[in-house]
This record gives sequence, C-alpha cells and structure tokens, in this order.
Amino acid sequence: MHERLLDALAKRGALADPAAAEYLARSPDPVEALERVFAKLANMPLVLTMDDILRVQGALRPSAVVGIVPMPVAPAAIPVASVPQPRLRTVGRAKDVSEDFSVVRDITGKSTCQGTLGDFSRYFANRLEAIGKLLRVRRELVGATDIARARRLTREVRFIGMVADVRTTRKGDRILEVEDATETVPVFIAQGTDLFRDAVLPDEVIGVIGRPTEKGLIIAEQIIRPDVPGGRAFPATKEAVSVAFVSDIHVGSRTFLGEKWDAFTRWMNSDDVVAKSIKYLVCAGDVVDGIGVYPRQEEELAIDDVYAQYEELARLLAAMPDHANVIVLPGNHDAVRPAEPQPALPQNVQKLFDSNTKFVGNPCTFNLHGVRILAYHGRSMDDFVYSLPGMSYARPIDTMREMLRRRHLAPVYGGKTPIAPEAEDHLVIDEVPDVFVAGHVHAVGMDEYKGVKMINASAWQSQTAYQKMHNIEPVAGRVPIMNLGTGRGTIKEF
Ligand SMILES: [Fe+2]
Repeated sequence: MHERLLDALAKRGALADPAAAEYLARSPDPVEALERVFAKLANMPLVLTMDDILRVQGALRPSAVVGIVPMPVAPAAIPVASVPQPRLRTVGRAKDVSEDFSVVRDITGKSTCQGTLGDFSRYFANRLEAIGKLLRVRRELVGATDIARARRLTREVRFIGMVADVRTTRKGDRILEVEDATETVPVFIAQGTDLFRDAVLPDEVIGVIGRPTEKGLIIAEQIIRPDVPGGRAFPATKEAVSVAFVSDIHVGSRTFLGEKWDAFTRWMNSDDVVAKSIKYLVCAGDVVDGIGVYPRQEEELAIDDVYAQYEELARLLAAMPDHANVIVLPGNHDAVRPAEPQPALPQNVQKLFDSNTKFVGNPCTFNLHGVRILAYHGRSMDDFVYSLPGMSYARPIDTMREMLRRRHLAPVYGGKTPIAPEAEDHLVIDEVPDVFVAGHVHAVGMDEYKGVKMINASAWQSQTAYQKMHNIEPVAGRVPIMNLGTGRGTIKEF
C-alpha cells in the first residue's frame, strides 16, 4: 500500500480494509482522497471500509462498473479517470497464454497430527486465535475483554469465544456455552428474536455483545460473525482465459454418466471459442467412486479396484485437450485419509496421470493468474444441512455463504465431517478468496456473496441408491465456467 496513505491512516488511529486501501491507493493523491472521505464521515471508523467510502460518495455521481462488481463513485478528490474503467475484452485462447498456477495454502506434506489430546487442544486454540483475529478488527468488538473479565462486569460486555455447546431450554430458548482460554460462560438467546433465527453451530467462533444477569448468564444482544468485508472487486486478469469446474465424477460407479462426460470431452476438443479459452479444469473431489466407502458399495461398482478406477480417470482426462491444465483435489470417496484437511492423492495414484494433471489437497487455496481460488470438496455440507435450519442439499450455495460468514469450511467437530487436529486449522478461511468452489452434493450453482464468486460444480453420476433413499435428485453433467479476465461465469449443460 502507498506509504503516505499508511502514515495518514496511522495519524488518525484508523485502519483501512484491503478493498478500501486499494481503492484509495489508485487515486493520484491517495492522502488527499483519504482526507476528503474522513471529512465527510460523521463518525471516525476504526477500520475504513468500502462501505464507508461508498456511503460518503453515494450522493455525488453514478458509479462506473468493472466486471460485475459495482465500483465506487469518484469523489471530487479522485478524478473519474483514476477509477479503473471497464476494459473491452475478448475471450483469450488458452494455448496462447502461459500457465500461471501457484499453491497458496495446502496441507500436503505438512501434516503433523497424531490425534493426541495435546493435538486437539492445540487445534482448537489455533482455531480460536485465527478467527478471533478476524473478529477483533470488527468495529462492534472494540473493547472486547476475555470471558473471565466479562463475567465480573455488570454493564454491557463484549467478548470472543468458541461455542462449546448449543442447547435448548425447556421453554424453547437457546443457551450457548461460550469459552475462551480463561473461562466458559452461558449466553442466552430468547426464542422468536432475529438472533434466535440465525442459528449458531457448535464449535464456531463468535463475538458476543450482551448484558450479564445476576444469575451469571449473559443475555445476548448481538452475535458477531467474522464474515467477509464488503466491496471486494474481482482482480480481473489481463489474460482473459477461462477455468472450468467439475466435481464428483465418481469414475468406477455403475451410475457414472459416461455419455455425458464424453459429450463434455468432445466439446472441450471442439472449435468453440469458450472451449478453446479453457486453460484450467478444476476437479473438486470424489473423482472416483472408491471402494468400501459405504456399506454394500461393491454392488454399485462397475470397476471394483480403486487403482483401475484411477487408471480409467487418467484415460478420460488424457482425452482432454492439451490447452486445459487439470487440477485434482480429493473428496471423501478418494484414496487418501478421510479426515480433513486431506492431502493430495498419493504418488502411486499420481503416476498414473500425464504431466498435464496437478494434484492438490482438500481444501486448497491456489492462484490462477493472480485470482485466488479456494477449492473445497464440501463434505461439511452434510453437517450444515443437518444442523442449520433452512439449509438444503439442493441449494449448496446457501451453505457456502454460511461458511464464508463463519470464515470456516467445517465448524462442527465430531459431526459427519471427520477433522484431523492439525497444529494449524487449515479449514479456517483466513484470506478471503476471489472464487470459492465446492462440490459433494451433486447439485449446481453459481452466485456471489460480497464480491466472492461461489460455485458448486455439479456431478457426473445419476441418482444412486443412497440418494434415492434420501430423496435427493442430482443435477448432473453441468459445467460452471468462469472467465478469469472478467469474473463472469456461465453454466454449460451436457
Ligand atoms: Fe463427496
């Protein structure tokens, strides 16, 4: 960031979130631009956000638009010319652009946990610290104390803690047991309130604003989630190549949709301009059906050897055009440990594939031409659908939004998602991604939440016996495709 801008912020005792700082830094005189914004703000914020800038500028001029993210209106101090203008783009040809892929965060080769008691307490302490850090910059939590101190106060209290337990009283109200390193405190949420409707999951890290009672309870007035700061702009790369997302291919299953996959492969090799623009093909887990994943699975397998399943997948991926680099992460059906974070598929599987295929862990954060992509198979959707009212297998995007609000991919420990207590909680969404992709539920979706593009990447399997039993209708053979130059996406059906 511009150094003078940092100094000016420091003088005011304020911080700016990344989107606001980037926006101000782009103007010819960032300090003057900052002073103009401060002069118009009624209250001095602790962290200056794009929302503040937009509010100040709202009455001035209509906004310019970059990508699909509305950019702020230019105030008098920031000439319109300094606001990035939408560039005319044509879709690029993948073969003309060099690969630009780098892993930002991945457990592969870094796992240290052995499942000892010490591992568990260190894991939860790391989760509390990592998400606590995101909560502490929230304006509402200025002056937050630890729980031991909060319990001794008689006025309004603010604190950050992990939800050790959620229970319902006989009258139907809710009590959260919230703990930090110092103590545990019961937090009361009255039924029928908005707070009550926004359900809290066990093991999530939250901020609480409330009032203590004489009985040692805290009556919650607000529950603060770390959430995603607003006003993020898509980085819009110079190379307007595309990325296609697939998931849950389930090669080896009798219900694998080979004909649809072949139609996808034919289209990928066609002269279609979008097909020719696909530089990356991300496979978000459950790439094969596996063996012994659920009882009597063998009755539903067309290939009953897991290596033969990966060999078949390798053959299918080799038929994809050379301009598409394949990135594979594992899911709960794949041949790695089921506990998340999962490392990349083992070497004896990787060697079956050609050099066009890369293997990463689950979850994995990687950059494609500077666009930050968080890829997660999505096993925890089972816990979200089970524990959060209103969530459904048919609308995975809703679940993904709840993960972003909590800045955690799988908050519930000891539910349906097995979690390995690593020294560092790799399931915390510490940096906000530009794109968040998941699969697992065999549905499809594309939406945006506060500037983060969310994608659920469909499946290549027709209804299984398990899905029939649970009344889940899969939406298969759809491919979400995103242009890295604009952030715009489309879903193609095969
Ligand atoms: Fe799955």
